[in-house]
Amino acid sequence: MADIEKVWLTNPSRRAALARMTGLMATSPVAAAIAQPDPRPISEHRRALSLAEMQTCFDFEPLFFGNVTRSVYDYTAHGDGSEFTLRRNRQAYDWVDILASRAPVPTSQVDLSSEFLGLKLKFPIIVGPTSGQGALHPDAEIGMFKAATAASNTLMMLSAVSTMPISQVAPASPGGTLWAQHYPQESLVSTQATLDRYQNAGAKGIIVTIDQQASYYERDLQDRNFGGRVLSQGGRGAGGGGGSGVPTPGIVTGASRYRISGGRLWYTWQYIDACRKMVQGPLLLKGIMDPEDARLAIEHGADAIIVSNHGGRSMDYGPSTLEVLPDIVTAVSGRIPILFDSGIRRGADIFKALALGANGVNLGRAARWGLAAFGSAGAQRVIEMMQQELVQVAAAAGCAKLSDINKTKVRAHFV
Ligand SMILES: Cc1cc2nc3c(=O)[nH]c(=O)nc-3n(C[C@H](O)[C@H](O)[C@H](O)COP(=O)(O)O)c2cc1C
Repeated sequence: MADIEKVWLTNPSRRAALARMTGLMATSPVAAAIAQPDPRPISEHRRALSLAEMQTCFDFEPLFFGNVTRSVYDYTAHGDGSEFTLRRNRQAYDWVDILASRAPVPTSQVDLSSEFLGLKLKFPIIVGPTSGQGALHPDAEIGMFKAATAASNTLMMLSAVSTMPISQVAPASPGGTLWAQHYPQESLVSTQATLDRYQNAGAKGIIVTIDQQASYYERDLQDRNFGGRVLSQGGRGAGGGGGSGVPTPGIVTGASRYRISGGRLWYTWQYIDACRKMVQGPLLLKGIMDPEDARLAIEHGADAIIVSNHGGRSMDYGPSTLEVLPDIVTAVSGRIPILFDSGIRRGADIFKALALGANGVNLGRAARWGLAAFGSAGAQRVIEMMQQELVQVAAAAGCAKLSDINKTKVRAHFV
């Protein structure tokens, strides 16, 4: 048993505090909207569950809530504006049926390995880039990278606004694979310097995130009203300044209150052309929600795209990623691989995205819940749960290999 678990099981005051705080979380309408709450409020449980007792990734979220301040929790949980797209991302999975197989296969015969841009993946599951993991747990990005590597050598994408520099994260998990995410920077000189730094540290793949140009988070504004400190605010645009996970005083005024600082409102395809020349290995574009953008991405040299709306953090009232996926798959027509994210919490969600044409998926909040609840060991457990759940769904649907997971296995009610 890990030390942290021992402390949690034996320290009554911490246990009581956790139970109370997680109870608050479980009964809040926020939890009902984005998670699958325990049917009994957690305050009615006699103790907080240990790592060994986690059953699904949803079990980690209340513990995360109990471990951190409200503003740290909200920074992960929030979506843009009214959070309609955040909710819709989750709901869309309910609108896709998995068709029962007349010939299920034993889980032992399921092999979901694939090759992705020169990498061998045992499962089509990647840890996506998310900022400021140091605010979640002292293990931070190093812990997340170790977790990914321990979970069958899962690829991890390090955020441009990582708490820890890539020069420290990359060597921390020998044998692991770390790619780096980049937010466009208007100056090509600093773009070159940033991309060189990533590549010199060993990141072969570079992900340029092209969404989230002018988002704002009402929950953060409210946290401030309650005397909290905000973790995200305007003017973070120029490729990684703030958002480092270090709380900043919550006084944000003027246009930057809504994060429409201009810092990300200038993006052009010419910028992608410039990045293409600076990136030796695979270049991925993250935040594609439109078939025409997918075509343009290929034209401008992308080796893969990530269909993503930043987990509902990019623009409110947009569609879910699952809804737009089929048209993007048609537009790409197999020319480059397609990764997918937003709202993934279960193996069944992953199965549906793969069946609708994605080649792999990124985990966002799910992996953060694991890290925040139990550090590196928690993140590893979440990744492994996703892998195991996916294998189970594939087996039940009669899919022994990745290519068996195709559109004949699902029926989508939104297409
Ligand atoms: C707290 C948080 C921070 C994020 N930071 C980044 C980031 O720095 N760069 C980026 O490209 N995407 C970032 N994302 C978006 C994720 O990569 C991913 O698209 C999203 O989390 C997927 O949705 P999900 O969390 O519902 O699975 C962030 C998401 C969250 C929740």
